[in-house]
Amino acid sequence: MTGQITATQLSKTFRKNQAVRGVSFDIAPGEIYGLIGPDGAGKTTTIRMLAGVMDPTRGTARVNGLDTTRQAEQLRAHVGYMAQKFSLYGDLSVRENIEFYADIFGVRGKARAERIARLLKFARLDQFQDRDAGVLSGGMKKKLGLACAFIHRPRVLFLDEPTNGVDPISRREFWDILSDLHIEGVTIFISTAYLDEAERCSRVGLMYRGEIIREGTPIALRQLVQGDLLAIITPDLQIAENVAQKLPGIFEVQVYGDRLHVFVDAGATRAREIEIALVAAGATIKQIRPAAPHLQEAFISLISHL
Ligand SMILES: Nc1ncnc2c1ncn2[C@@H]1O[C@H](COP(=O)(O)OP(=O)(O)OP(=O)(O)O)[C@@H](O)[C@H]1O
Ligand SMILES: [Mg+2]
Repeated sequence: MTGQITATQLSKTFRKNQAVRGVSFDIAPGEIYGLIGPDGAGKTTTIRMLAGVMDPTRGTARVNGLDTTRQAEQLRAHVGYMAQKFSLYGDLSVRENIEFYADIFGVRGKARAERIARLLKFARLDQFQDRDAGVLSGGMKKKLGLACAFIHRPRVLFLDEPTNGVDPISRREFWDILSDLHIEGVTIFISTAYLDEAERCSRVGLMYRGEIIREGTPIALRQLVQGDLLAIITPDLQIAENVAQKLPGIFEVQVYGDRLHVFVDAGATRAREIEIALVAAGATIKQIRPAAPHLQEAFISLISHL
């Protein structure tokens, strides 16, 4: 394997709980690799092992050519790690928090001031540099966390659910910053529970119960969805769901906000049948049309068939 992040059969067992069950990666320089999966899937444990902060029970990993267990100390200089529950010093200012990390990573001299100024700008925090970190908005805290993780200009960044609980606008802004890092050639390994974010990755691994059940480009994963997808907009969701589930040729029915997503064997013929059945059951149909499945549907469809 020649990747910048490689892992072979990484496993972690906590007492009797097999949190990670033999996962392997081969991630090229400059990729944005997204690890997605539900709570408890093993994302954090995987990232901790890759970042060299936790030893695997079995298996090995190399990042930037360094063994994450035997060369963990050296590895620190080459990777940035933003933990899921990272903490900032609330009574230090934004700038002082970054300075603190600069000291930890031995960033000194002329480079220090330049880099801090650049990072503040980069993270869109320059106007807030004197504000106490404790009073920042959730989104700004995450950006500060990212700036701290990047102070030593690592070639690889591990970000564990960095946008969790942040509003959509701040999430987009955070991703704009990641895109800038990506353009600079930084390899990014990011876990997220938001499937729309996974669509922005070069490759995605779907993690479920400690295993990577599928891996590929977002487009390839989307295509794994069985059959055609029909989107039905109706005010009578409950009736529509119950009726649609019982019709022939239906693989799956998922409710999305005000609409029903129905996976069928053949879109064109089933659309007509569904429409007739729903109207007969007293449901009003505002629209029924073919739709392109998102990663969200792909993921739900995959894990429901395991
Ligand atoms: N330090 C630990 N000691 C014991 N069990 C742990 C420890 N860390 C994680 N686990 C267990 O390992 C499993 C995987 O946890 P992990 O935190 O890696 O999942 P996750 O995908 O990051 O979940 P989340 O989305 O909630 O962050 C869970 O069952 C969890 O309870
Ligand atoms: Mg986690």
